[in-house]
Amino acid sequence: MEKMRVGILGATGAVGQRFIQLLADHPWFEIAELAASDRSAGKPYREATTWRLATPLPKAIADRVVQSCDAPFQSKILFSGLDSSVAGEVETTLAGRGHAVVSNAKNHRMDPDVPLLIPEVNPDHLDLLAVQRKRTGGGYIVTNPNCSVVGFAMALGPLERAFGIESSVVVTLQALSGAGYPGVASLDATDNVIPYIGGNEEEKIEAEPRRILGRVKNGTIEMAPFAISASVHRVAVSDGHTMAAFVKLKKKASPEEATRVLAEFRGEPQERKLPTAPKAPIHVVEGADRPQPRLDRDRENGMAVSVGRIRADGIFDLRLEALVHNTIRGAAGAAILNAELLVARELLPA
Ligand SMILES: NC(=O)c1ccc[n+]([C@@H]2O[C@H](COP(=O)([O-])OP(=O)(O)OC[C@H]3O[C@@H](n4cnc5c(N)ncnc54)[C@H](OP(=O)(O)O)[C@@H]3O)[C@@H](O)[C@H]2O)c1
Repeated sequence: MEKMRVGILGATGAVGQRFIQLLADHPWFEIAELAASDRSAGKPYREATTWRLATPLPKAIADRVVQSCDAPFQSKILFSGLDSSVAGEVETTLAGRGHAVVSNAKNHRMDPDVPLLIPEVNPDHLDLLAVQRKRTGGGYIVTNPNCSVVGFAMALGPLERAFGIESSVVVTLQALSGAGYPGVASLDATDNVIPYIGGNEEEKIEAEPRRILGRVKNGTIEMAPFAISASVHRVAVSDGHTMAAFVKLKKKASPEEATRVLAEFRGEPQERKLPTAPKAPIHVVEGADRPQPRLDRDRENGMAVSVGRIRADGIFDLRLEALVHNTIRGAAGAAILNAELLVARELLPA
């Protein structure tokens, strides 16, 4: 099969670099266009950014000239790792020009007709595209959730389906790479925990899972009717967001029943064997001291969410720990899986 040409918006950033790494040997997609700000436009990629990943910068990408986001694009699929200060407008413009914009940015996640997608959890939300495309004339935006939300909602999804959720509290311990590069100053991060993350992080974690677990109704999403309370922290970990979650269920379930439901969970990406899909989206990890970012974040190339310490709780019904690789399953890998589902369902614009 001839590979499909794709573009990356925000190609020089932390998420943009992950896109380049994960797409380097992709069986369906080939990177054809790289775009970033006017600071980078006109420069070869290797001069426009400092490559910070542990795999080498692919040669074919290093010499490619970065373009501005205002320039025309040939690729049908445009992945976006744009800074949120510009993502809103740029993505709207490019969807209006007929592209499928597959975005990491927060700007359009809660738009009524934009899918906020985790392919294993809510693939039916792609029904919104028919509504959105009437508005745009053909192109569209599909978003993936906030990096912590991917791990949290992936753990909540099977529990909601099996037992119903009444409420949940989550405390996050989020990695430094979640703030992009250079991110948090080293003197703030070292030997420290910062109990605040800007950009309305707590509000996003309280709202996005309810949208993801909501129902498509009248061309938009009816939010799942349970309450979430979140408290976030930045910790001195390079990659991997950890979450301590407490869950009150509608129908009582033992930790063993919850463990089974989580371990057996599979979705459409697994059925369709999409190239980036993990074999099991949730790994229930054993061990009283797991999951840990350094030991568990790279399971299934960073695409599996690890869940452990599933136990009874005296106030809520269950408590558990979840871990997600924030720049892979929580960002670039999530968007690539979204694009694979769009291709598999033949939903690309003409
Ligand atoms: N890091 C994570 O774990 C994570 C997870 C999920 C979602 N996200 C979201 O993904 C997006 C990117 O995050 P990041 O961590 O990769 O940020 P980053 O490292 O700061 O990269 C930002 C990118 O946006 C580009 N950009 C900035 N201003 C621009 C402008 N005026 N016009 C065009 N391009 C512009 C930058 O290009 P230049 O290099 O040319 O400035 C760079 O390529 C954000 O919306 C973020 O919220 C991040």
